[in-house]
Amino acid sequence: MARVAYVDGHYSDLGRTTVPVEDRGLQFADSVYEVIALVAGRLIDLELHLARLSRSREGLGLPAPMTDAGLRVVLDEVLRRNRLRDGLLYLQVTRGQAPRNHAFPARPRASLMVTLRAWSPFSSSLASGVAVVSGDDLRWQRCDLKTTGLLPNVLAKQHAHEAGAFECWMVRDGVVTEGSSSNAWIVRKGSVYTHPLCEHVLGGITREVILELADANDIEIVERGFSLSEAGTADEAFLTSTSSFVVPVVNFDGTDVGTGTPGPVTCRIRELYRDHVYGPAS
Ligand SMILES: Cc1ncc(COP(=O)(O)O)c(C=O)c1O
Repeated sequence: MARVAYVDGHYSDLGRTTVPVEDRGLQFADSVYEVIALVAGRLIDLELHLARLSRSREGLGLPAPMTDAGLRVVLDEVLRRNRLRDGLLYLQVTRGQAPRNHAFPARPRASLMVTLRAWSPFSSSLASGVAVVSGDDLRWQRCDLKTTGLLPNVLAKQHAHEAGAFECWMVRDGVVTEGSSSNAWIVRKGSVYTHPLCEHVLGGITREVILELADANDIEIVERGFSLSEAGTADEAFLTSTSSFVVPVVNFDGTDVGTGTPGPVTCRIRELYRDHVYGPAS
């Protein structure tokens, strides 16, 4: 079935959808985005994603393309037209079209584009764990804003792919900040560690939900950065993101993590997150 995209008031076949050459998202990455999981017809944690979209937008002084209520209508219509039960919804807001000039246009008209693609939640190929490699964190000082300026992330992911790994954990000043498209976690002596929120990491929505789930289930999480050697000698490790949920990391920089299989704390967190997405098994 043809995929339907939304761009500034129009729904059209994705293959025929175009954006203007002078859109600032294209020329300057002057744009923010969200990726939201659609599971069994429901957009997971939509409120949290819309709140982060607003924070990212406001961080760049980028106007809203429409109200949140209007945005929900567009999202519902994209879901309806694409007729998918499980998918990944992509939503991007740019500062719109203007003659190329670094400074903001005097009267920017934000542009909104939305796409949806088929995707399988809780992919079984990831359940047995993945390999991660480390690399330098080459990004700017506002990684907390979810902007489309992703070239360092792209290079980090490519580094992982070329090393036969699933993800690259990026390192700044000797500390693992996060993955190229995921948050990074390790488990040592029963405690879980992840980098605290600051301008060097993206506040992942999956991360946020896991912190709440852990709190409600007596799992200790310490928001503190960890070093490469701590990652290399961890008992367990995992990564989290909207598109992969909770994925065990069983090999780090070529060495097995713990037993080289998904650990008990990781599996417990994965189960809690699965219940969050689907509701507890009856
Ligand atoms: C750099 C980075 N960190 C973390 C995440 C995880 O965020 P979320 O859980 O909201 O998908 C992502 C997701 O794309 C990301 O790109």
